[in-house]
Amino acid sequence: MSKAEHCEPSQNPKELGPEELLPKLNSELWSQAQKPGQLIPLLQSAQEAYGYISEETIAYVSKATGIAEAKVYGVITFYKQFRLHPLGEYLVRVCDGTACHVNGSKDLLDVIYDELKMDGTQDTTPDGKFTVETVACIGCCSLAPVITVNDDTHGRLTPLKLRKVIKRYKRRAAKSDKQKAAAAAASAE
Ligand code: FES
Repeated sequence: MSKAEHCEPSQNPKELGPEELLPKLNSELWSQAQKPGQLIPLLQSAQEAYGYISEETIAYVSKATGIAEAKVYGVITFYKQFRLHPLGEYLVRVCDGTACHVNGSKDLLDVIYDELKMDGTQDTTPDGKFTVETVACIGCCSLAPVITVNDDTHGRLTPLKLRKVIKRYKRRAAKSDKQKAAAAAASAE
């Protein structure tokens, strides 16, 4: 009889819980979690792993460091580098460096919020498709005002041009949803 072959589908590491994943990724750091001054590097390591810091991660960091969850949460909200929610599928960065600012970056931000029906209190659309951030100079000042969407750069924008750009990404997002739904329906047959 032939020997049974054992094959497990490879698991997306992000599906592992923090207790399982984080010490594996950076064992030295996590083994010294109780040392003073480790909280920020631990949070950076967690955010690098998951893209954001979930409630589950806060609980694990608190357990690993012995620092109360409320204090961990306080540190996360104090530093702008930390995120409490996953990034959207499309990350829209609006440059607000000097050259872009004087060329109307604020108007561009208003167009984006309007087009994505955001009120500026949340950085990500409820469907998780778009995250909007303002950033300092991204180094393309001759193209000011500039935005980036994931790896694409869009420069010399006017509100009208930008509206078209955002509509294009919205269509792209809707199309990829339809394709995913069709693929899921086909695999369920
Ligand atoms: S200020 Fe916007 S790219 Fe430099």
